[in-house]
Amino acid sequence: MNLAQARGRAAKLRDLINDYRYHYHVLNESIISDEVADSLKHELAQLEERYPELITPDSPTQRVAGAVLPGFSEVRHSRRMLSLNDVFSAEEVEDWTKRIKKTEPTLRNEYFADIKMDGLACALIYNDGLLVRGVTRGDGYVGEDITLNVRTMDSIPLSLRSGTGFPGFLKDRTEVRGEIVMYKADFDRLNEERHKLGQPLFANPRNTAAGTIRQLDPSLVASRPLHFRAYDLLRDNPTEVLTNSFAYQALADLGFSTNRAATLLSSVNQIMDFVKLWEHKRKDLEFNTDGIVVKLNDRQLFEKLGVAGKAPRAAIAFKYAAEQATTIVKDIFVSIGRTGTATPVAVLEPVVIAGSTVQMATLHNEAEIKRKDIRIGDSVIVHKAGDIIPEVVEPLVKLRTGKERVFKMPSLCPICGTKLVKLKAKDAAWRCPNPNCPSRTWKQIQHYASKEALDIEGLGEKNIIALLDKGLIRDTADIYSLKTEQVIGLERFANVSASNLIAAISAKMHPSLSRFLYGLGIRHIGAQTAIDLANHFKTFEAIMEAKVGDLTNVEGVGEVVAEAVVEYFTEPVNRRLLDKFKHLGVWPEPIRHAQAGKLIGMNFVITGTLESMSRETAADKIRALGGRFQTSIAKDTDYLVIGNNPGASKVEEARKLGTNTIDERALSQLLD
Ligand code: IVH
Repeated sequence: MNLAQARGRAAKLRDLINDYRYHYHVLNESIISDEVADSLKHELAQLEERYPELITPDSPTQRVAGAVLPGFSEVRHSRRMLSLNDVFSAEEVEDWTKRIKKTEPTLRNEYFADIKMDGLACALIYNDGLLVRGVTRGDGYVGEDITLNVRTMDSIPLSLRSGTGFPGFLKDRTEVRGEIVMYKADFDRLNEERHKLGQPLFANPRNTAAGTIRQLDPSLVASRPLHFRAYDLLRDNPTEVLTNSFAYQALADLGFSTNRAATLLSSVNQIMDFVKLWEHKRKDLEFNTDGIVVKLNDRQLFEKLGVAGKAPRAAIAFKYAAEQATTIVKDIFVSIGRTGTATPVAVLEPVVIAGSTVQMATLHNEAEIKRKDIRIGDSVIVHKAGDIIPEVVEPLVKLRTGKERVFKMPSLCPICGTKLVKLKAKDAAWRCPNPNCPSRTWKQIQHYASKEALDIEGLGEKNIIALLDKGLIRDTADIYSLKTEQVIGLERFANVSASNLIAAISAKMHPSLSRFLYGLGIRHIGAQTAIDLANHFKTFEAIMEAKVGDLTNVEGVGEVVAEAVVEYFTEPVNRRLLDKFKHLGVWPEPIRHAQAGKLIGMNFVITGTLESMSRETAADKIRALGGRFQTSIAKDTDYLVIGNNPGASKVEEARKLGTNTIDERALSQLLD
């Protein structure tokens, strides 16, 4: 990007970010998520770093945060209210402890960790035990006087509890700092009411809490559910509060709510365990969190290490990876899936989201691209959560230069040149109807060998391509006629892996009926439907001959699924493929009558690890007997099987719902 281009881009970014800030701070509504705003600010900061001449005095990068609003009087903080430096990985935590140990070689490994609440910071000042002032963080030095508003909040004691183990704190000046939050459930309820009244909705709980506390009318504040959770206790004489663990104990005694999760930890490993635990459990918290605060427990050392910039050296915030970021769509291509579905995919300027680099994102189908108006060259918001396939959320239309190109769906398959078709006029997706399309073959074999299907180790994406390229296989059945000698010669396969691969394939000559059925990759047949069909029909031949009416007799199988099954078995190519399997001696095991159905109608969840078998095996056995294996507890779960190191949240959920819990031995008896 040259200077002129950078100038144009920077101006557009500034406008968009300023627009966002106006909506966020003045109108209390979010036009884009905080994560997206951060991503845009980051890009602007980088541009300004490269071309300092682009910095303008009103650039969002030049803003001093939290200026005092007119209407509230200013209050100077007794001690500065600091921010925290963010870290994102175990290495950075390690580096942090090493840095401290450099200045403090005798550092005891005593860390105090708490959940980082996503609300607004507030300082409460008590004189001789009586609440005299509530102050917002403001710019850290000077905040706004919100005394009248905090006095309406039930969770803030108007006087410190007396007769406690800490009478000293009821004398002179005691300052309590903490976070004001709105609970997620209260936020949802509030928005529901606003929706009913036709009022504009609030963007998120933090925004709503911050907007509420800045209201000049305390009765409005009183009507909104806000909560205060304490995290700091300050006395003029700091030796009265020597550790953070002591501070939390005293805070609870003085009448404040603190997070029960807060705890002492003694190594980087323990810190990371705590981080991971809450990354998993954070959805169950009443309020939003975006990370974990870790501080040295020793507060004198905390003071001694001092401040760098706006943050203390003795504390960090471990931030959970953002799930959204902005990037640019460099191109759009069409990918052909195993059933022929043509899916447009965006090629992205690589961007790190939720801890991994994202280079491609699904655009679902042509109609979706039109609906969202995503163009090649657009700056876009990309979303990725956990294992979910990254997705383009929307374009940032205001950042357009006019050079963006509208995507046109090709009429031919980009891989084999066959004309794309729609099976039904109302279908959203175009499909390549050629069953021999190389892209379809490759993805079909990949699906057949995948974990949930035949689970053939060594037959991954790249190996399949290598075998297809050399003409050693042309369809799924061909893998069974591969010989070790043929494979050894290929670049990707050393001696051992070639014979391992052939052994792994021949071990799967007689797969279970459900896995084989699922592995064929019939449209709409997921792993569970395959199990239901297998349990109902018992043999593969019976499924092959079933009519739509027979198939819809199976619970959970509707017309669409039934038609897809019948269609699959009438297609001559598929018939030929199945003949080939049979000829090679590959055929699924029928379900034996005596056994089948013992667990029909029973739903199981497993938590923790089992000693006698893997979870996959246990799940297979449960399914083979007609039971269902679920990944999370629901109202219809019959048994929670508790293995070693069970997950606390599952056990708790089972208790709440009154689900039966059994151990591994009891499960084995059921499976016997
Ligand atoms: S301890 C030096 N503990 O996070 C500041 N802060 O980025 C030490 N926050 O403005 C603060 N939850 O308002 C601490 N459990 C917690 C917190 C917490 C949220 C906020 C705090 C501060 C910001 C720091």
